[in-house]
Amino acid sequence: MPAFSASAPGKVILFGEHAVVYGRPAIAVPVLQVRAKAIVSVDPRSFPGLVKFQAPDIGLETSLYDLPENHPLAAVILKAAVAMQLSHIPACTIKVTSTIPIAGGMGSGAAVSVAILRAFSASLGHPLNDEQVSQLAYEVELIHHGTPSGIDNTVITYAKPVYFIKGRTIETLRVKTPFSLVIADTGVQSPTSSVVSDVHSAWEADQAQFNLLFDRAGEIAATARQSIEAGSVDKLGPMMDENQALLRKMGVSSPELESLIEAARSSGAQGAKLSGAGRGGNIIALVAAEQAGRVARVLEDAGAVHTIVTEIPKT
Ligand code: MEV
Repeated sequence: MPAFSASAPGKVILFGEHAVVYGRPAIAVPVLQVRAKAIVSVDPRSFPGLVKFQAPDIGLETSLYDLPENHPLAAVILKAAVAMQLSHIPACTIKVTSTIPIAGGMGSGAAVSVAILRAFSASLGHPLNDEQVSQLAYEVELIHHGTPSGIDNTVITYAKPVYFIKGRTIETLRVKTPFSLVIADTGVQSPTSSVVSDVHSAWEADQAQFNLLFDRAGEIAATARQSIEAGSVDKLGPMMDENQALLRKMGVSSPELESLIEAARSSGAQGAKLSGAGRGGNIIALVAAEQAGRVARVLEDAGAVHTIVTEIPKT
């Protein structure tokens, strides 16, 4: 059976989560140390349409016939089939593995979609281009959480730092001076859909207050972009702290996130905030490269179930 494989990285949002859903700018970067991988093995002797899925990480073994159309794995294949105008879906087995924490704000769902779309389209001899992959992954995100901004599928597809405004053409970011982040996982799974929906209810109840919070988060993202492009990395820490204060006011922080953020700051991080939807998932801390290992150990002692040290390279 010929096999085709593809992978996609995780991501963190540096600035502007939630506000980005309401049209403000945000900044996200890929995290290459964690990845989702898809292997598509074509099985020409089986019946067309017999698509088997294996996702050993979550103990899932099933087929396209057995899944509802809106299941994320089924939706990826069905949407790809429509986009590629397939008259039938060739039989294949799709194995998915991932080292990206699930429901941890690091884009695991979008990365799985992107990896499958690339491997599946390659197996058919018609690899989808980045724009098509990102668009289809976005359509799958729409099923999961109603009002995605599109930032996750974009940064994960292009695997480059992005300055993102909903509905606008992708803008990649020029990183003048590399900088280091420690990512620390609270271990609390927090599905994006429910947090985004809670923020929506809170926004509906007090639009004036939430619009101010979103405006300020957007201003921070715009200023942070200038600092990143100018190589003034030292300015980012206080901006992360201010963004975290806004996220707390939006109601998306949690005791577990706050305790890791506090541990990061008191162990020498220049700034720290939650990243992604919040309520659980991961924090990010800006650190001097030589301090990264030590801050990561402090965060583990403070209860992080997993840490990743990553450098955002010069681009
Ligand atoms: C999720 O990674 C980021 C949110 O802003 C949702 C979105 O932009 O779709 C919370």
